Amino acid sequence: MKSLIVGQSGGPTSVINGSLAGVYYGAKKSGFDKVYGMLNGIEGLLEDRIIDLDEYFLDANQLELLKRTPSSFLGSCRFKLGNFQENEEVYEKVFHILDKHQIDSMIYIGGNDSMDTVESLSDYAELKKKKQNFIGVPKTIDNDLPITDHCPGFGSACKYIATTLREVIRDNNCYGSTKPTVVVVEIMGRHAGWLTASSALAKDESSDGVDAIYLPEIPFNIDTFVKETEALLKKKPSIVIAVSEGIKTENNQFICELKDSNLIVDSFGHKELAGCAEILCKILKEKLGVKTRAITLSTLQRSAAHLASKTDLEEAFQCGKKGAELAYRGKTGKMIYMERISNKPYKIRYKVFDDIHKIANIEKKIPLEWIDVDHNSVKTELIDYLKPLIQGEVKQIYKNGLPQHIYLNK
Ligand code: F6P
Repeated sequence: MKSLIVGQSGGPTSVINGSLAGVYYGAKKSGFDKVYGMLNGIEGLLEDRIIDLDEYFLDANQLELLKRTPSSFLGSCRFKLGNFQENEEVYEKVFHILDKHQIDSMIYIGGNDSMDTVESLSDYAELKKKKQNFIGVPKTIDNDLPITDHCPGFGSACKYIATTLREVIRDNNCYGSTKPTVVVVEIMGRHAGWLTASSALAKDESSDGVDAIYLPEIPFNIDTFVKETEALLKKKPSIVIAVSEGIKTENNQFICELKDSNLIVDSFGHKELAGCAEILCKILKEKLGVKTRAITLSTLQRSAAHLASKTDLEEAFQCGKKGAELAYRGKTGKMIYMERISNKPYKIRYKVFDDIHKIANIEKKIPLEWIDVDHNSVKTELIDYLKPLIQGEVKQIYKNGLPQHIYLNK
């Protein structure tokens, strides 16, 4: 009898349940007899909140619905285990609960912070000669995990951002010079600009695309921003600007901190970043006297399963499936990742990264040579990197005109 438990952690994506479906499918195929889910990640595991996934997913149709349901089916958390020397009772509690349910393997689907949990638990298990093994399956719309070419969840968020921006640009163009308007769109991604950069994909022969992109990789100066927007307004009346939620000044002050210097900080020490579009719009209105509109994409960009990328969903599923196969082989402290073999045609290979210590808590930013700083834009290399990730559409299952989701009756 072999059992596996899976958890989801950190900010959700529109395909994180694709990875959960992959883990379940791969676990069953590999030979795990029982597949459990922990509710709200490690935080729920510590409270022994565990469900038997057979009750939900034995029916293949339910698994298909799961793949099309955004957010984390099992619920999520942002919980740091901390150092085991100081929190040994918490670690022991985790292993006590795993032993109680006779669980051999654990898979954690998440980003940098979640890989910190995989790292801590696998290190502790090795040190204390526990029988369990721990595997990480990557996910994050921020695309800031090192090693992997890109992260499941990112491509779908890019597809949503590029589509939405194309529509916003279309809308903003309608008044032309009768009503000059600057729209500032705030995009997630924390300290990495990958998602904001994907706004560049809005451009093609049918659309001028966004007029400027401000990334957290490049220090942000408010006076320069005002001057650059003024120059844009001299050329055309309808302007759309993409800004990352994480833009900050040369002195490392987040622009969103200008409104609220007491930002909430999570257990991993991350400040809750939000509000820079509104601040910038207010400044533009005051300095240039122009109509402005602030749009914050917020959770829309990570929950828009109706616009998911088929490529992304397939990759999310495969990462989960490979994770389960690896877990069955008893490996520990490892993460599944994707290596890009070619761009045209787009081909990736799924691989195993042996040392989780080189992934946990490390953020991968956009290489500076892919950013066109002089034009507040991005270079072709970045566009070429992004394009394959948004390809293909996922057919939703509709009822009464709306997409159907699977949900948990907790
Ligand atoms: O984990 C990704 C992310 O979506 C970031 O882009 C964003 O800053 C953060 O999560 C928001 O987290 P929360 O949902 O906990 O507010």
